[in-house]
Amino acid sequence: MKLWGGRFEEGPSEVFERFSGSLDFDKRLIDVDIRGSIAYASALERVGILTAAEHDELAAAFKAIQKDSQDAAFWQGADEEDVHTLVIRKLKERAGTLADKIHTGRSRNDQVSLDIRLWLREEIDASVKEMLALMAALLDMAKRDATAIVPGYTHTRRAQPVLWPHYLLAYFEMFARDLERFKETRKRVDVMPLGSGAMAGSGFPFDREAIARDLGFASITKNSMDVSGDRDFALDFLHAANLTMLHLSRLAEDWILYSGEEYGWLELGDGVTSGSSIMPQKKNPDSLELIRGKCGGVFGDYSALFLTMKGLPMTYNRDMQEDKPRIFDAADQLRGSLEMARVVVETTRLKPAPPAAAVEESWAVATDLADALARSGVPFHQAHQIVGRLVLESVRDSKRPADWTAEKLAAFDPAFTADMARYVKPAEGIETRELPGGTGPKAVAKALADAGTRLSEMGK
Ligand code: ARG
Repeated sequence: MKLWGGRFEEGPSEVFERFSGSLDFDKRLIDVDIRGSIAYASALERVGILTAAEHDELAAAFKAIQKDSQDAAFWQGADEEDVHTLVIRKLKERAGTLADKIHTGRSRNDQVSLDIRLWLREEIDASVKEMLALMAALLDMAKRDATAIVPGYTHTRRAQPVLWPHYLLAYFEMFARDLERFKETRKRVDVMPLGSGAMAGSGFPFDREAIARDLGFASITKNSMDVSGDRDFALDFLHAANLTMLHLSRLAEDWILYSGEEYGWLELGDGVTSGSSIMPQKKNPDSLELIRGKCGGVFGDYSALFLTMKGLPMTYNRDMQEDKPRIFDAADQLRGSLEMARVVVETTRLKPAPPAAAVEESWAVATDLADALARSGVPFHQAHQIVGRLVLESVRDSKRPADWTAEKLAAFDPAFTADMARYVKPAEGIETRELPGGTGPKAVAKALADAGTRLSEMGK
């Protein structure tokens, strides 16, 4: 069946039909397409195109189609160009010529915008739920090893000691921003486009606010041409998905390293790792590698739609049909990755000794010593020089920070006073960083408690 044809003497070629059909992927929209159509039937009744009885008949037919679509048999032999056409054919089979009225004043251009918006709204809600669960798992992990000290890195070199929960809370903050981004995106998705027609606005005086209310939208779109030509809201979603995947992939990368033999900090659960077909000793972090890997696909989805939209003349162009594979793929990978990351976090255990030893073997406390000198009045650049020389000598003589007593420090440079020797212990320097946002134990305990409160607010 075609929704057009009167103007043509010949039908489409088999090649064109195969090339242009979207049913394979847009069939995922069937539920929202039907829900939108039921609301549209009400709108048609309100403007007098359908009688109340006709409305009821169409609404009942739509509901029956929705039910049928859950069976595989429904899809057998379906060869329509898209899901919208298929639904109308099914409507005709049930309601006969009455079905011919449903598309009055509607175009697939406003219909497809509506469908994607309805679909994305639910998808965003589901992703937000997954994100909240992941964030809760991070907080649980942070509470479990609240006093563990690990090296923080810059340039992949040991930089300064931090509390393990401080590191986990950094990811919590990234995901909190991602969550905000999804909520912002949802606002732009939650706008009702029906009534725009093909691009000039419908020729029927619909109460568009009433359609929006029926479908639970917060507002209506303001320009019919904008509706036909716009996919910003989908790009917003892909952008939000991209940043979340970016954060997930950085977490994955960290933990691939931290769980490997060279770091040895983390034990990943057996359930999220796999073995080797030849090397019996292997326990590979495949779950994390796949999160990192899927990130590439989602970034690609964003670029693909972004470039598809670039330079399209106003308004709708068939190019825009390519939005759906990108949106669906990104949404699937995002949700799958969030769920996988949550299970990894829930089943991973910190082994506190190796990271604590890594801090002690290194000069991660160097800044703490320089800060101590600066607090006693030595200008910071001079303090930096003094500690730099101390590190150089220590590296040459294979001395660790703990090998330096108060006497030895004073002998090395008289600027070191007796009370400064305690900063060779990582925990001492950490305790000087109690300002908000710092890694001091009190600051971190407060941040952790605040994060719990914020998380329950975010879930509302
Ligand atoms: N399958 C099309 C899409 O997803 C529906 C809109 C078709 N509109 C048109 N003017 N040909 O974009």
